Amino acid sequence: MIHDFDVPIVRKGTGCIKFDRRPELDPFWVADMDFASAPAIIEALHARVNHGVFGYAQAQEGLNEAIDLYLSRQRGVTVPGEQVVHLGGLVPALSLAGRAFCKDGEALMTCTPVYPPFIGVHHDGPAKLITVDHVETDGRWVFDWAAMEAAVTPETKVFLLCNPQNPLGRVFTREEVETLARFCVKHDLILVSDEIHCDLVLDAEKTPHFSALELSEELRQRTITLLSPSKTWNIAGLGYAFAVIPDDTIRRKFTAQRGHTLSEINALSYYAAEAAYRDGEEWRQQLLEYLRGNRAALDAFVSERLPSLKIVPGEATYLAWIDARGMGVENPAQYFEKKAGLFLSDGAFFGWPGWIRFNFGCTRARMLEGLEKMAAVMV
Ligand SMILES: Cc1ncc(COP(=O)(O)O)c(C=O)c1O
Repeated sequence: MIHDFDVPIVRKGTGCIKFDRRPELDPFWVADMDFASAPAIIEALHARVNHGVFGYAQAQEGLNEAIDLYLSRQRGVTVPGEQVVHLGGLVPALSLAGRAFCKDGEALMTCTPVYPPFIGVHHDGPAKLITVDHVETDGRWVFDWAAMEAAVTPETKVFLLCNPQNPLGRVFTREEVETLARFCVKHDLILVSDEIHCDLVLDAEKTPHFSALELSEELRQRTITLLSPSKTWNIAGLGYAFAVIPDDTIRRKFTAQRGHTLSEINALSYYAAEAAYRDGEEWRQQLLEYLRGNRAALDAFVSERLPSLKIVPGEATYLAWIDARGMGVENPAQYFEKKAGLFLSDGAFFGWPGWIRFNFGCTRARMLEGLEKMAAVMV
């Protein structure tokens, strides 16, 4: 079946935060896409809705099997069911990890720029936060190992990794992930690997994703891998993610932190997740083809028409990270909001003021319209 991602769908007035939070603006901010989800998912949801009873839910064997199948197909790994912890979203897992493993005065560490909750979840507990900037080497944004060695302290307990990296769009190599895992062994850190964007690698031949699940047995014992179908199949509003935690003690401490702070998981989300992992591959491949086209058109537009912007080459996600410091305005996101009526993500929330994040998970026509609006007010 051919999916037409060029068909516009009106989202305004559907209670979506992207369009309805600031209805007067043209939105290219929060990370969801304007596309309808995969038909297999929509059918599974219809079937579940038709049942009509929506009491408290739990994961069924079908979901566990679909996850197992997906992990073995995509990753070549087998994960025993007891290592999987189902969650109503991925961000709560970042927070649980911080609270479970950091006592007062202890620290979480991460590299910036990064998805804003990474630099906010320590506020949910007594932990401090240590950040180290990624650095550009030969046109690629990489880890600054020397700066990380200098910044880590004996009180640091957890490293939060975002791979693929939001907003940089990097897919870290096997070597980078293994080096980071060894850094975690050396400093006795738990490695929390957020891989929510791992099924959105634009060229999997050129930049294959290496999951923390693929680390050696010894390195894997200190990992918490966080996965979800939500970004790839555009079902973030349904709320579902899962953690894979091989070590029993780490898993017990992590789940104990839930206390009464998390609600039950949405009954529909389980069905959507199962359909995504079981039957979503054909749609995903077509989505990736469309996103590659958008990415190429975006890169070309920025280099030809927006010369004071510098766009970071993207290996994954539908999010582009753009250096707007060359414009010489204090807050580029605010500038585009005031002058062009655009809603972009302000780099300051990712730890880097002067940068912007542009979401190209939309029809090509709408993306190009937005870019024309930027070009019209460019300085
Ligand atoms: C890296 C990353 N992690 C987590 C999330 C959100 O996860 P959830 O909606 O499941 O809490 C996002 C959403 O943009 C993200 O980019």
